Amino acid sequence: MSERDPGFVHRFFPGETGVTLLLLHGTGGDENDLVPLGRELAPGAAILSPRGKVSEYGAARFFRRLAEGVFDQEDLVFRTHELADFIEAAAEEYGFDLSKLVAVGYSNGANVAASLMLLHPGLLRAAVLFRAMVPFEPEETPDLSGMPVFLAAGRTDRMIPPQSTERLAEILREAGADLDLRWRDTGHALTYEEVAEAREWLSGVLLKLS
Ligand code: MLT
Repeated sequence: MSERDPGFVHRFFPGETGVTLLLLHGTGGDENDLVPLGRELAPGAAILSPRGKVSEYGAARFFRRLAEGVFDQEDLVFRTHELADFIEAAAEEYGFDLSKLVAVGYSNGANVAASLMLLHPGLLRAAVLFRAMVPFEPEETPDLSGMPVFLAAGRTDRMIPPQSTERLAEILREAGADLDLRWRDTGHALTYEEVAEAREWLSGVLLKLS
């Protein structure tokens, strides 16, 4: 495998609250996709939004998969470390406070956020995961004590098996995360109601950060 490259195509928007949102798009998205969602979830927060480097027939992703829901584990680990390198380099370049970095991920972006939490515990202060599943089974339980995590799942999601979301929830709870798991009778697409719920949840979390 090639050497890690911390360069990602990305957008950065400075903020005024001291908090930075790391926006991680779904398969086929890009660095612009989640910017309106980020602004809705945390008005005034800075935004760091990278584009996944893997191309699946032209669709950008954060790591390779062998089939739907079957991840290339070697690539996943490599890409997760690469993303962590990028985040650290971006914090230096733009001068944002890494201790107030909150991830917001959707689908493939939520899965790479979960992988970041397992491989780099402590890098993210909190996370909002929309439609996430287990990226990999960790060999050792990481220490995510007290980390606030909002996990929003759809009961009829055909891309994300419910048992895999439940397993991720179990791993995060075992790691000590302060998990808020919300199931809705909906599919893979995000609903307005859960964005509103995530916004409310996040405003409580951000109050404690500032
Ligand atoms: C993934 O590949 O990360 C998940 O299957 C969700 C997606 O398609 O993005």
